[in-house]
Amino acid sequence: MVTSALSIKTDDAAHQTWAITSSGKGLQGRLQVPGDKSISHRSLMLGALASGETRIKGLLLGEDPRSTAACFQAMGADISDLDAEWVTVKGLGVGQLQEPTGVLDAGNSGTTLRLMMGLLASQPGRFFTVTGDSSLRSRPMARVIKPLTSMGAQIWGRDGNSLAPLAVQGQKLNPIHYLSPIASAQVKSCILLAGLSVDGDTTVTEPSLSRDHSERMLQAFGAKLTVDREACRVTVHGPSQLQGQTVIVPGDISSAAYWMVAAAIVPGSDLVIENVGVNPTRTGILEALQRMEADITLENTREVTGEPVADIRVRTSRLKACTIGGDLIPRLIDEVPILAVAALFAEGTTRIEEAAELRVKESDRIAVTASQLNRLGASVTELADGLEIQGGATLTGNQVDSFTDHRIAMSLAVAALRAKGTTSIQRAEAAAVSYPPFAQTLAQIAL
Ligand code: S3P
Repeated sequence: MVTSALSIKTDDAAHQTWAITSSGKGLQGRLQVPGDKSISHRSLMLGALASGETRIKGLLLGEDPRSTAACFQAMGADISDLDAEWVTVKGLGVGQLQEPTGVLDAGNSGTTLRLMMGLLASQPGRFFTVTGDSSLRSRPMARVIKPLTSMGAQIWGRDGNSLAPLAVQGQKLNPIHYLSPIASAQVKSCILLAGLSVDGDTTVTEPSLSRDHSERMLQAFGAKLTVDREACRVTVHGPSQLQGQTVIVPGDISSAAYWMVAAAIVPGSDLVIENVGVNPTRTGILEALQRMEADITLENTREVTGEPVADIRVRTSRLKACTIGGDLIPRLIDEVPILAVAALFAEGTTRIEEAAELRVKESDRIAVTASQLNRLGASVTELADGLEIQGGATLTGNQVDSFTDHRIAMSLAVAALRAKGTTSIQRAEAAAVSYPPFAQTLAQIAL
């Protein structure tokens, strides 16, 4: 008999290695996942910009939202005890962020840095410097610097103003209509936040619809917005003030995706993941798994503070391969590594196309997903803009690495549930960026 186990070793540099040995036990019962990362960032930011008090329940206590909180505290926002059930933010008012005395540190978080850039650039007379960890300092920032510069922003950075650390001299900005070449909620949100203090209409049109949490929350906070989802276009009518609100953050569908795939691929599973955000701009993973004939149902669908929420039931499934690309990609962009794990156990060859954005996430997720799954015996081929995954895989435990990318660490942990022997995931502590208790839940529900 195989005894299942998770052992965690921490080295001197605080890197963790997770050694996972699965007995193949089915995932049963009910669980909840931590709060949505995108909504958590936005609730802290809009709370800091609003007049009055914002109360937030279910905030993700991962490293990324903690970076956002620290940056806005350094600019004068009063954010009380982050670990309390209800977090209170006393806002400063739009355009009232204070000049920090030190460098703002966005850590590993692209959302913190890119959204914040729109705000820093639009604080006249104040100067800011911003940086992040080594992953974030290698990620492209020109995608926000270019449109902000055409609004009149003054921004300097490494590598021809394209990489952090960045320096920003705040200005009174001008309105633009920006035709974004990429479907990126970070780019869209950055410009909309800048547009809050502009006199006139600031419009962003994107090639396909990216997540719309900013639009929903800005409207809830009283911003003047015109949203045309059909045309993938949104306008903020500036200047616009915000009023503090109550935000109840739903569970993160990107975190739920690990358990959805685990339950689909491990025999004998029947799992309900409760209270998951099912905003249609985020449910690409549900659609992809349903296309693969996964046994997934939504129960108890409801709306909570402007976002749709449901319980998701998943049972062990006979998956079929499929091809994924186009407008679906922005709606499941963070779920591609775990979708690749699902595809390993489908019948046939799955192709994921038009997803070149994955190369500039926390790691090059195309290269790392392929190389690390192949170390377990999978057959995954890198495409310039995606992955080709052979189904019917037989995996064998081996040493793999997260490349300090939270989503890679957790996807490999799910793959380990279907591997023979022990899979050792190096630098697995990265999971804490979006899902601090992941390892505990894994041990409880799957091992
Ligand atoms: C996010 C947008 C996405 C996503 C990221 C969170 C957001 O990035 O990958 O994890 O909260 O706006 P892009 O806007 O770069 O696609």
